[in-house]
Amino acid sequence: MPVELTYGPIRKGEEREVQRVWQTMTAFLGRPAFLVQLIPDMVDVARYNGRPVAFCYYRHGKQKPRSTIQAIAVLPMYRKHGVARALIGRLAAASPHPHIHLKVEADNPAVLFYQRLGFVVVERENARTGRPMLVMQADTASLRPTTKESAAP
Ligand SMILES: CC(C)(COP(=O)(O)OP(=O)(O)OC[C@H]1O[C@@H](n2cnc3c(N)ncnc32)[C@H](O)[C@@H]1OP(=O)(O)O)[C@@H](O)C(=O)NCCC(=O)NCCS
Repeated sequence: MPVELTYGPIRKGEEREVQRVWQTMTAFLGRPAFLVQLIPDMVDVARYNGRPVAFCYYRHGKQKPRSTIQAIAVLPMYRKHGVARALIGRLAAASPHPHIHLKVEADNPAVLFYQRLGFVVVERENARTGRPMLVMQADTASLRPTTKESAAP
């Protein structure tokens, strides 16, 4: 598969397609996967032939000196091509904070992905549903790509 992807902030009219990417989590979560509030300047999208195939929904902290990954997903057929790594690299390049932070279900295979990128477990907790969660963190500097043009908004 030729991976010719472009990256940029979510555009007007793309919300449904971004939700569709997140819906691939429905079976894993055991409930409909829906992102409640997508704030345009907090969603970075990867597009293949102009169509969203992956996204990273993030937040730069206002009180705490960290950026948070709220959700990240790649359509199954585009996985293992470095797309999520690129999205997190863009987030790190744009982050004003020293750390990138996230929570993930302890049994989500994505934990291995995060560990591969250098995230470490800093806390364990239970979600309101009772589901065990890991709080993970990495140094922003270690996630920054070497080229400047890959920064998220
Ligand atoms: C987790 C996810 C975002 C990874 O996306 P991706 O584009 O396939 O990841 P990348 O190709 O950038 O992978 C980067 C590295 O992590 C590794 N990796 C990715 N997914 C992995 C997995 N499930 N298990 C082990 N390693 C994994 C890759 O092999 C790669 O390693 P390398 O640099 O040595 O080659 C994707 O699997 C996904 O969308 N999962 C469903 C949504 C989800 O669970 N999101 C996280 C909770 S918010």
